[in-house]
Amino acid sequence: MHQPTLATAVTAVLAALPAVQASMYTKNSPVLQVNARSYEKLIAQSNHTSIVEFYAPWCGHCQNLKPAYEKAARNLEGLAKVAAIDCDDEANKQFCGAMGVQGFPTLKIVRPGKKPGGKPVVEDYQGPRTATGISEALVAKINNHVARVADKDINSFLAGDGPKALLFTEKGTTSALLRSIAIDFLDVISVGQVRDKDKATVEKFGIEKFPTLVLVPGHGKEPITYTGELVKKDMVEFLSQAGQPNPDPAPSNGKADKSDKKKSSTKPADKKADKASDKKTTAEPEESPETSTATTATESATQTPDIIPIATITDKDMLVAKCLQPKSHTCVLAFIPSDASEKGDRAVASLSQLNSKYIHGKRHLFPFFSVPSNVEGSSTLKDALKLSADVELIALNARRGWWRHYEGDFSVESVEGWIDVIRMGEGNKNSLPKDVVAEQAETATTESSTEATHGTDPEPEAETEAPEPQEKIVHEEL
Ligand SMILES: *[C@@H]1O[C@H](CO)[C@@H](O)[C@H](O)[C@H]1NC(C)=O
Repeated sequence: MHQPTLATAVTAVLAALPAVQASMYTKNSPVLQVNARSYEKLIAQSNHTSIVEFYAPWCGHCQNLKPAYEKAARNLEGLAKVAAIDCDDEANKQFCGAMGVQGFPTLKIVRPGKKPGGKPVVEDYQGPRTATGISEALVAKINNHVARVADKDINSFLAGDGPKALLFTEKGTTSALLRSIAIDFLDVISVGQVRDKDKATVEKFGIEKFPTLVLVPGHGKEPITYTGELVKKDMVEFLSQAGQPNPDPAPSNGKADKSDKKKSSTKPADKKADKASDKKTTAEPEESPETSTATTATESATQTPDIIPIATITDKDMLVAKCLQPKSHTCVLAFIPSDASEKGDRAVASLSQLNSKYIHGKRHLFPFFSVPSNVEGSSTLKDALKLSADVELIALNARRGWWRHYEGDFSVESVEGWIDVIRMGEGNKNSLPKDVVAEQAETATTESSTEATHGTDPEPEAETEAPEPQEKIVHEEL
């Protein structure tokens, strides 16, 4: 905030200019573009799971996200929706505000709640901003309407007149592909999955290889075995001989159908959107996701875990030992007043939340520390970096001689965005004044202790370059 960084200067200049870019995503983009009006129908009322990016075309992080986001959209084609809404567009501004959007980009995962036609569950996505991270998170949130059918269940599964589809598989999990198919055919075809271990059923259907998809068009009808490729489009076409998939979005002013009663209880889109800020836009799911069969095994891992507070630097030696050795790796330091303060507490709370998330997720990341103002050495370091506010957040890497300054409101989202940028080795670095490290190193405790603590500290994680196992996530796992 004292010396504006290049990024903030550029952002400020761009923000001052009239919006020249209409939209960040072109017509050919795999990303579904929605607006305040179409959101309700395309996203909120869909039976499928979506991720929505709230962005502004001038925002650098949004532009940086674009390639990964489009890649995620291609990965997830037919499985889940990857959408974006331009919050810089006058027509969408109010809606973005009502959705609780405070910074760009904000990513939210939206999926159907328990009641058909009811309110969706909206959660912030705070994982890595990579195609893999986004794809995996979304796949984990695809509702599961696929019945597990064991030998003892097969008769009850086959009872009733409606058509049934059965996937015979060696897998114990239910693939995203099969879950998405079950959603397309909700209330049209019952979809089940049989494991190879359930020998009686395997034999009954004469299954010889796995995976095999079988359609039972109706009670007592002859089963039809699918012989095509295991890709969604062809599988849906095959199943369509027994019943049409639900159109998504639902056709607008319907020829009166049976679901009309339900519709009348649904508020019109705009009103609902305006009301959104009242209740539903918080990060917490409104309805407990545990209660439906929709829960997947991976989902529990994404629930808010117990908070693991960040460590506090208690004296100068500790500060030097942890972060200011010539060989110290990346450290994140939050300078806070030694007395309680709202801003200081917020910074520590945000870092603790992220800390917990990384630890629970077993991800190696650089250590986070709070540095109360009464710790000797804290003001020396702040002065050397020309930091003067009560609460300051920095990352520094003595080994490589850089430091970075956080500027923002200390919310979790904002801090996480900043950390993601560091992990990817992007963004603005300042060079660390030499004396900060060298001088302090003289008083340092043994160097080997630093190595022990930081030996496995990866830097940067460079997730952007990681090979994307895109096909693996989606199609291979039947
Ligand atoms: C959602 O599923 C219900 C069946 O539960 C179906 O009647 C409706 O048409 C589906 N809606 C969409 C948008 O696919």
